[in-house]
Formats: sequence, structure tokens, C-alpha cells
Amino acid sequence: MKGIVLAGGLGSRLDPLTRVTNKHLLPVYNKPMIYYPVEALVNAGIEDILIVTGGRNAGDFLQLLGNGHEFGLKHINYTYQDGEGGIAEALSLAEHFAEGQKICVVLGDNIIEHNISEAINNFRQQERGARLLLKEVSDAQRFGVAEIIDGHIVGIEEKPSDPRSNCAVTGIYMYDNTVFKKIHTLSPSHRGELEITDVNNLYIAEGTLQFSILDGWWTDAGTIESLLRASQLIARTGANNTDS
Ligand code: DAU
Repeated sequence: MKGIVLAGGLGSRLDPLTRVTNKHLLPVYNKPMIYYPVEALVNAGIEDILIVTGGRNAGDFLQLLGNGHEFGLKHINYTYQDGEGGIAEALSLAEHFAEGQKICVVLGDNIIEHNISEAINNFRQQERGARLLLKEVSDAQRFGVAEIIDGHIVGIEEKPSDPRSNCAVTGIYMYDNTVFKKIHTLSPSHRGELEITDVNNLYIAEGTLQFSILDGWWTDAGTIESLLRASQLIARTGANNTDS
């Protein structure tokens, strides 16, 4: 399985912190934000990794991460997203890299406490489709929210004002190789983006979307409040431990 970290976008919710640099280069406690999703993949045994970057200071990723020796990698792949056309658009740039294999995608501003290798192994056994990692939260309207009936996800709504559950869809997505064909059928949402939630709903429609519940804490770091929370959580407990 190959890994993809999506680190494009302009990070406008963190302005002015992101006025002259890329959100994923900002510090989260003692490391740049991008370290955490890379470590999440490496600690789960995924070593063939593509970083999709974009926006401001994209070249700095190369200077910071190089060939990934610090993470025990031999090589890191990079590609560039023009503009910020959405998470699904950024993912579409990985089609060539994926070479028809299953992929695990991690959003560049998502930070987790525990190792995700169990969910990844479950996805390896899954014949086809996709697998999401869900987490109960108290502020579901900030996220994609899954409605679950009889143990199955029946629908996902992106940032609903009146969420049908408190199960947020975290920014860790596992897909089979049909994901790129699905992205090609999407149209931009009202905010002008190709939405990853639309991709996930296409998997629901074909009956192949599975999920696991994420163990340990999870946070994004894309707002001033969540950036602070991420630093506090890591200071307290550490992140991406190698335990499984
Ligand atoms: O954090 C989990 C949430 O992430 C999910 O629950 C939502 O369903 C999903 O849409 C997403 O919501 P956000 O509004 O938080 O996404 P945001 O626009 O902040 O983008 C998250 C990351 O995705 C960002 O750190 C980099 C990457 N990205 C985003 C955009 C819009 C790209 O690489 N390119 C893009 O064009």
C-alpha cells in the first residue's frame, strides 16, 4: 500500500500565521506540522510516500524533509497542486504515483495519538472499496459527519449545521484504485472545491465503504484553537507512538 500526505491549500483560517508560509510548516509543539502525518504512515509500515503540496513556500518542504532519512525512508515523492481546488483535487494528482495499488491518504493537518496499523491491515484484507477512520467529537459541525444505521455508514454530510451524529470523519482515508475514476466524475461544491465527502458518498452508493473507530486522541490543526490544542496534546502525551 502506498501513502499520500495532502499538504496543499492556503490555510486561510490561520491567517496571519500562513500569510508568508505554508500551514503544514508551522510548529506543532516541537516539530513542523507535516512531520506528524508522515510519521503516522511510516509507523504503520507504509514507506512509499507522496507529499502533495501547493500554495506558498512549496520548495521549503524539500529542504525540510529531503529524502526522508530522518523518518527511516530512502526516498520521498513530491508533487504540486496549483490553487486550492479541494482535497479530492489534491488527491487526483496522486493517480500516477498510486500505480493501481491501494492507498492510505492522510490530511497534512491531522494529528493522531496512536498507531493506525490495525485499520490499515483490515483494509489490506478488504477485497475492494474504501475504509474511513471515525472519531466521536463534541463539535461535529466542523467536520464531515457520518450517519450510521445498523453498523453501516449510510451517508456523510460535510460540515452540517445540524449533525445527524457525533461521528466525525477523520482525515485518514483508505481507498482502492477506483478512487481516481470517482474523482474524475465530481463537480465543484458551492465552495468551489472537489470534496472528499463526495468521493466517500460514491463508495457508500456502491456499498463498499467500511469504517474503523480511531483509537486515542485525534485533532486537526487548521484553526488557531485546534493548532493550540494539537501542541498541548503532544506536549502531554506524544503522538504517533510506534505501539500498535
Ligand atoms: O480534518 C478532517 C476534516 O478535513 C474532514 O472531517 C472533512 O470532511 C474534510 O473536508 C476536511 O475538512 P477541512 O475543512 O478541515 O479541510 P481543509 O480545507 O482544512 O483541508 C485539510 C487538509 O487538506 C489541508 O491541511 C491540506 C489538504 N488540502 C486541502 C485543500 C482545500 C489540500 O491538499 N488541497 C486543498 O485544495
